[in-house]
Amino acid sequence: MRILFAGTELYPHVAVGGLADVMAALPLALRDLGADLRLLLPGFPALLQAAAPLSPIRQWPDLMGGGARLLLGRTPAGVPVYLLDQPTFFGSGPPYEDRADTPRRFAALSWVAALLGREGDDGWGPHILHVHDWPVALAPAYLAFEPGPRPAALLTIHNLAYQGIFPKTLLSDLRLPPEHFTPADLEYYDQICFLKAGLVHADRISTVSPTYAREIQDPSKGGLHGLLASRRRDLVGILNGVDAGVWTPSGNLHLAFPYDLDRLDRRALNKAALQRELGLREDPDALLFAIVSRFAPQKGLDLVLDILPRLARLGAQLAVLGQGGGALESAFRAAPRRFPGRVAARIGYDTGLSHRCYGGADVILVPSREEPCGLTQLYAQAYGALPLVRRTGGLTDTVLDPDDTRPGGPPATGFVFNEATVADLAGALDRACARYRSDPAAWRTMQRAAMSQDRSWDRPARAYLDLYHAMTARSG
Ligand code: ADP
Ligand code: GLC
Repeated sequence: MRILFAGTELYPHVAVGGLADVMAALPLALRDLGADLRLLLPGFPALLQAAAPLSPIRQWPDLMGGGARLLLGRTPAGVPVYLLDQPTFFGSGPPYEDRADTPRRFAALSWVAALLGREGDDGWGPHILHVHDWPVALAPAYLAFEPGPRPAALLTIHNLAYQGIFPKTLLSDLRLPPEHFTPADLEYYDQICFLKAGLVHADRISTVSPTYAREIQDPSKGGLHGLLASRRRDLVGILNGVDAGVWTPSGNLHLAFPYDLDRLDRRALNKAALQRELGLREDPDALLFAIVSRFAPQKGLDLVLDILPRLARLGAQLAVLGQGGGALESAFRAAPRRFPGRVAARIGYDTGLSHRCYGGADVILVPSREEPCGLTQLYAQAYGALPLVRRTGGLTDTVLDPDDTRPGGPPATGFVFNEATVADLAGALDRACARYRSDPAAWRTMQRAAMSQDRSWDRPARAYLDLYHAMTARSG
């Protein structure tokens, strides 16, 4: 099975959120199952550097506003990767900053994905074009607009909150046929919607958890619920996995005291080290909460700001690692001054510190309003930090609250609250604090259950492979 994987992030070279983790880990798991997979990514400087040496494959004097070359190299993990080297589009700046050429840079990438899907390269042609999220969602549409043989197209939605909506005046600049600008096709309230185009034209659609696959068909979510509901037979939710080569507390170079299930006591040393590193009071009895997150509205972090006084009253602590600008960032920057020694904030992206949070905090807070899958709660579990999450999307599918367990069923692996309200979050916070104080043995049991789960990428990779086989069987 030959697969071309197109997307915009690759851990650790270009990482904004969990998409980067998936783009790095899933190809390796598919390769382990015998798939012949290649990546297509934008030629961001960090990727051009990581994939060197690079050979030129094709070039275009003007690809939607600038000369472009397609280069072939390999990731450090040995996966062949095509990079669209178009310096005006990808030569500088963060991956998704708001720029005038945003629609053209990602339409160009999608157009190249479709071309490579259709024509292949030097005898290598994919059976499946698997595209991830709105920046490459036009690719299935470009494929459909050309006659002739083509690979089957799978679109994975990692986040419906980002759709890629742009003015219709760009149609011809983006090489989109005007006759397809209809409500049943590219048009979304008189604008062009990249994600919608992909949802209409992909042969199959997947998203990153079973619960999110159901939620996005509900009128209260998203805006594309009608289309998604109409395609429900082609829509599947496949839960993300954890790359145990990266996310494990044992032999971990970022942790002062690596540990595993048999040396769980060493977590206390990491907790003390984290408290010292962040200027929190070094107190083994203070329940240490941590957040590792983008500061996006969907993450529900505004609720946490509202419960800081309660958290302090309970004798707990909070460590925040995140970025994203805006009011939330300013509020978290200011919080440590209000609660010295109890609240610490580090603004920025820091992989090492994220490992130390998972390996040293007692609880990882994920109060998301929406969460397609969520990886931080899975990493928390792998490190024996209990996740405290809202019941939504993939959080529902991955965290079991003690109150939701039944005799003979799976064990509790975290804390879950229902509504995105201060009252519900506070309730879960109280329960976590009470259990930590009054029943250390039960806490330890939950830690062990969380750490013992099998979250490897092998299972999801098999599910994707089954899906690819079903798609190629159908398209003949
Ligand atoms: P999303 O993709 O919506 O941001 P996920 O939970 O799927 O949410 O993935 C988030 C990923 O980004 C995790 O690997 C997490 O550790 C990482 N991450 C988020 N914020 C930061 C940060 N400030 N520093 C380091 N890593 C971060
Ligand atoms: C998105 C989602 C997150 C998911 C990640 C990887 O960024 O917000 O829930 O885990 O993609 O699929």
